[in-house]
Amino acid sequence: MKNSNNISLLMFAGVVLIASSCAEPDRKYSEELKHDVPFHQYFGDLDMYTSPSIETYGENSIYDNNMGSRHPVAGTIPRGFMPYMYPNTNEGYLMAGDSLKNPFSNTPENLAKGADVYTKFCLHCHGATGAGDGPVISGSNGKFPPPTSYVDGVSSGGDKMKDLPVGKMYHTITYGRNMMGSHASQLTSEERWKVILHVQALIKQGQAELDKSGASESEETEVVTADGTEIIDEEQNETEENQ
Ligand code: HEC
Repeated sequence: MKNSNNISLLMFAGVVLIASSCAEPDRKYSEELKHDVPFHQYFGDLDMYTSPSIETYGENSIYDNNMGSRHPVAGTIPRGFMPYMYPNTNEGYLMAGDSLKNPFSNTPENLAKGADVYTKFCLHCHGATGAGDGPVISGSNGKFPPPTSYVDGVSSGGDKMKDLPVGKMYHTITYGRNMMGSHASQLTSEERWKVILHVQALIKQGQAELDKSGASESEETEVVTADGTEIIDEEQNETEENQ
């Protein structure tokens, strides 16, 4: 009985000892380190608690501009980023049209992503069906001219929208074109390609509807370009390839 009392006393003393050694040491404010440091340091200034490491985006006196982080070397490309090689010129537009292919295919997931991007970034101008009648246009009292209709319009570059190569679409979304601004800072390359899948789906859908109504009325559709020239479209009943 006496022994067991002694043991519990010992255990109690042990707990008190451990608890006191874990207690937070008193702290003082260090001007140099700009935060509190404990009074008791076991390894002088090398204690990990007060490690003098440079804060990532903080100031320091080592570099000329006093910035903790460095500017990337000129020409640095972020990992996974593919620079767009075609210049913002008409030559660039034509080259992009000739050589770029959509790296994404018409899977339900890609189309759903494209439709989502379209709703958030394009619909307010181009309209839900691509007719060029989004709320920004219809609400502008004619101040904002309607974008080319995806279905029966003609691009300012000369192509009928239904024949517009994807590379030209990508170029326009990247740099903007006349009244349409650049979307390069809002959309990743992947989002731009996926929204093109949706634009093409809208074009195809519009064409199918045109064909349906055209079949009952006339075989030809008149398309009036921005400068007033009329193009007679006799190809509308052709089956679309690659779409
Ligand atoms: C501020 C209104 C506005 C927004 C937002 C907008 N567009 Fe446009 N878009 C236009 C106008 C206006 C044109 C006609 C430009 C021209 O004069 O060729 C156009 C043209 C186009 C063309 C035809 C390009 C060509 O080469 O002729 C495509 C494709 C297109 N837009 C897709 C999109 C997509 C996709 C989005 C969303 C990511 C979008 N636009 C967002 C106004 C807009």
